[in-house]
Amino acid sequence: MLASTLELARAGREHGYAVPAVNVLDDLSLRAVVEAAVAARSPLIVQVSVKTVRSVGTELMTTMFRLATKDAPVPVALHLDHCPDRAVISDVVAAGWSSVLFDASDRGLATAERETAEVVAQAHAAGVEVESEIENIIGVEDGVGSDVALHAYSVQELADVAQRTGVDLVAPQLGTAHGEYKAAPVLRPDRARELAALTDRPIVLHGGTGLRAEDFRAFIDAGCSKINISTAVKTSYMRSAEEHLAGARASGRWDPPSMFRDISAAVQAAVAGHIEEFGSAGRA
Ligand code: 13P
Repeated sequence: MLASTLELARAGREHGYAVPAVNVLDDLSLRAVVEAAVAARSPLIVQVSVKTVRSVGTELMTTMFRLATKDAPVPVALHLDHCPDRAVISDVVAAGWSSVLFDASDRGLATAERETAEVVAQAHAAGVEVESEIENIIGVEDGVGSDVALHAYSVQELADVAQRTGVDLVAPQLGTAHGEYKAAPVLRPDRARELAALTDRPIVLHGGTGLRAEDFRAFIDAGCSKINISTAVKTSYMRSAEEHLAGARASGRWDPPSMFRDISAAVQAAVAGHIEEFGSAGRA
């Protein structure tokens, strides 16, 4: 059964843990991520980038998710990650996913607010929740985003816009970035804490890959209860494939199913580590 992203994140905030929100790329990574959550008895949010939605197709992705989670004994939500494209939002809302991230950070404040309110009205009418981003998270991920900060609003402005638009979850800039960190980031759990004092909407931490366990703990203590992980899935997937292919070349044994097993094990291990760090193990 499709879980609610909002309810999972609310429970995390209430009990001092964060729900892992993990990007998947295909059925192999999807099943691996679900297996990791089941093994740890953790709630889970499966996320899909717009690029992956476009390449797999909304219908196939929705069906894969339904089948991969139908017997899962833990709650799993299905979420569209960073989406500035209203047509893709409409498609996913019509398909009945748990939630969408409407990424309006490429727009000015007035336009971002107006369009976010429109997306909320459309999504809520279909029972779909909305995460909002009006300040951009640094880094380009799957073709979406920017390497420079486009806007910086006060936490009061963020809370006010969230209140006026009626969004369910808020994704502020907290010093993190998508992708591998090239330099040590200046992390802002203090900003999450200030925002948490102004709104009870769950706060989302983007750019989780590369942070340390103590960084996650500081953000969770400050009020973040959905933490996004994407790059760690991609690198564990590709590195295990690379290693497997090197072995295949050396042995002359080319057997795709055994490579899929290696990839699945690597992705599961990466997600299991984050589940431990986020404190979500045993919460489902
Ligand atoms: P990373 O790719 O840095 O893990 O960030 C993931 C993310 O924030 C997805 O929205």
